[in-house]
Amino acid sequence: MEQIKINGGKILSGEIKIGGAKNSAVALIPAALFAEGQTEISNVPNITDRDALFSIMRSLGVDISMKGSVVNIDSSHMKNAEISEELSNKLRASYYFMGILLAKYRHAEMYFPGGCSIGARPIDLHLKGFEALGVNISHDEESHKYTLDAQNLKGAKIHLDFASVGATINIMFAATMAEGTTIIENAAKETEIINIADFLNAMGADIKGAGTSTITINGVKEMHPASISVIPDRIEAGTYLILGAIMGKDLTVCGVNPDHITAVLNKFKDMGIDYRIDGDRITVSRTDNIKAINITTLVYPGFPTDLGQPMSVLLTQANGTSYFEETIWENRMQHVAYLNKMGANIELKDNCHAVIKGATPLHGAEINATDLRGGAALVVAGLVADGQTIISNIDYILRGYENLIKKLKNVGADIQIIGEKE
Ligand code: UD1
Repeated sequence: MEQIKINGGKILSGEIKIGGAKNSAVALIPAALFAEGQTEISNVPNITDRDALFSIMRSLGVDISMKGSVVNIDSSHMKNAEISEELSNKLRASYYFMGILLAKYRHAEMYFPGGCSIGARPIDLHLKGFEALGVNISHDEESHKYTLDAQNLKGAKIHLDFASVGATINIMFAATMAEGTTIIENAAKETEIINIADFLNAMGADIKGAGTSTITINGVKEMHPASISVIPDRIEAGTYLILGAIMGKDLTVCGVNPDHITAVLNKFKDMGIDYRIDGDRITVSRTDNIKAINITTLVYPGFPTDLGQPMSVLLTQANGTSYFEETIWENRMQHVAYLNKMGANIELKDNCHAVIKGATPLHGAEINATDLRGGAALVVAGLVADGQTIISNIDYILRGYENLIKKLKNVGADIQIIGEKE
């Protein structure tokens, strides 16, 4: 079993180059199937979720080649087929094949998607949206296989009960080649959605309003190959900036869009953390006397839920009492027990509310990643702690942080992967 071993307490200096956004890439890669022929996606992050998508696409007869972070996808020989349970389970974003296959073939067969267990993660909003477009859905209660059929895929007005990122993108996919106009109200506004709509439009789609709460999609009959670059990963950038605020000495995060992490930088200001923005570079240094603050995670442009767990480590180093509230996922506090084992003073009021008293020194410990961002929080904690930290279940972390070990070593961290790959 592979583990991450960290000798913590080292000051970190230098540059970390941010990769492409995981949550954009996992939608852009399958979206390439809309076009027959060669499509090129650049700045694709080197994460295991990318490889899981490639496995699914290869099972459908798609040719994929890669040079560095540039991926070429050729769907000329693609055939629609069932996506196996094993492949559907590999990642959450497998659900995007529902919307894409429906648009392209009016038929999709796959199983309930996998992903981190940070909450119940239902897909009812995706399915309700498809139904509104005329899709007939059958679901096998035992195997959780979904068969989706649409003789007539017709545009509709769809109001989402919650501004779900996945449902917004998936409905946008299905509507792209439907007959007539679809309007998604209360759409998610996450910046990744703009990246995906830009790609679809470059392939010939007619989508307006991505990045706002109303998206209008006029269905088109044909799509053609195009190219797109994945936007920078705001969550990866935020994770390293949080680390820099505790352990950095002029730690620079490069290739980031500062506008995408305004919510995080505003919290830095409130905490008295100094940072410098210079174009697409943000530099931060270790700050003494970090102020305690309150954080509530929200949909974009609010404080991102995906940075809540790394941020909780920073709050352990703030002076005073901070209140932390998670509003998107009901099971995102699993890392707290491990932070407390390392010396933090975090009281869980319930699954979504925590009271963090600081500043507490952290000490190395043997701990387990329980999900992607919680795992990243433990890496940050291990780098802050004195002594040795061993983290197990690191597959969760490698799903979403490209070249994590190399990037951290380059700025002076003592971190390595030990043990055998299973
Ligand atoms: C995406 C991100 C994830 C991020 C989340 C919220 C990807 C691959 N993942 O996940 O990193 O944490 O957005 O920013 O892009 N919900 C329902 N029914 C549904 C769909 C969602 O009740 O059909 C609920 C969820 O249980 C959750 C909330 O809505 O409580 C948000 O989910 P959603 O925005 O859909 O998250 P994902 O797209 O899965």
